[in-house]
Amino acid sequence: MPITGIYGPEDFDQPAHGHSPVPARGRANPAGRAGALPMPSLEWTPEVERSTAHLYERVKNVISPLEWPLMAPTIKAINELKKTRGAVILAHNYQTPEIFHCVADIRGDSLQLAIEASKVKSDIIVQCGVHFMAETSKILNPHKTVLIPDSRAGCSLASSITGADVRLLRERFPGVPVVAYVNTSADVKAEVDICCTSSNAVQVVESLNAPTVIFLPDQYLAKYVATQTDVKIIAWKGACEVHERFTGDELRAYREADPTVQIIAHPECPPDVLAEADFTGSTAHMINWVRNKHPKRVVMITECSMADNVQAELPDVEMVRPCNLCPHMKRITLPKILDSLVLLREEVTVDPLIAERARRSVERMINLKN
Ligand code: 13P
Ligand code: SF4
Repeated sequence: MPITGIYGPEDFDQPAHGHSPVPARGRANPAGRAGALPMPSLEWTPEVERSTAHLYERVKNVISPLEWPLMAPTIKAINELKKTRGAVILAHNYQTPEIFHCVADIRGDSLQLAIEASKVKSDIIVQCGVHFMAETSKILNPHKTVLIPDSRAGCSLASSITGADVRLLRERFPGVPVVAYVNTSADVKAEVDICCTSSNAVQVVESLNAPTVIFLPDQYLAKYVATQTDVKIIAWKGACEVHERFTGDELRAYREADPTVQIIAHPECPPDVLAEADFTGSTAHMINWVRNKHPKRVVMITECSMADNVQAELPDVEMVRPCNLCPHMKRITLPKILDSLVLLREEVTVDPLIAERARRSVERMINLKN
């Protein structure tokens, strides 16, 4: 059914909205000078070539032999430092192939990363993704050190709403339960009943057994959920700056050029885009769809690096990749990951009282999954 309403900051009589596109910066070096290790050598040597050859095999379809000597020394250094530090690297599906395939220990969509973060044994987590993902890891691991290689890696959805906005929504719609997409700050997660990701949004909404649910902050994911359930949805005006750029016209043009092409899209896209897609799902569901269907040619309507990561794994599937990059995800680079491990920076912190309340919303979602 159509969504019941879409609200934004302008719908509430409140002081100027303090949204920042960029989250607060993490602590630069929590361990201080004493915690820093010497910067390893980054020379391209025969030994580096030999010891990284197995990693190059994984990415040789998407990284040229000319590029590899520039990356391999840093990859080797990161993998050695991970052992020295006892650290684990979590990487989202939108990370570039040299990160995703060559240094990450745990890879996945937002739901998989949250579930895996709740099971991590290492004392140090390096989150290769955006700030809300690192915050989620910290919320689930309050006693561990969570590092993000660049804490300016924000998200247009997370910066579209604050905890104060959620409180105003609750006043406007008393008794209506609130679901927050994980693409939100800890402050927002602390105010809601349960979190969801694009993998489980419909399941989470229906789990509340309520006739109406407030679903925030992604208006397009809210619209998609509304097409899959009889629950009435009240939405927020947020949008992903990467997925909202796709258009139905663009997808129709691909189909006109090749009527046999398969098109798969992420539910953060606008409805006219999803109407043209053969399949809609989270990043993990999209990857599994390609693995299982093994199409001859597929257009991936999502962040562009994911198509590179799938291409590395499935060289015989022709990927058409309209290149919409997420500028926040792309802040994470090999040199910054290395700095993170050498200098133990930038540490992600969450106020313990907020973290405790936010943890309830995240764990309620994870337990639903289990
Ligand atoms: P998922 O990987 O959960 O589908 O999320 C996509 C996204 O945009 C994350 O920022
Ligand atoms: Fe946020 Fe969109 Fe970037 Fe994901 S792709 S981090 S939703 S801006």
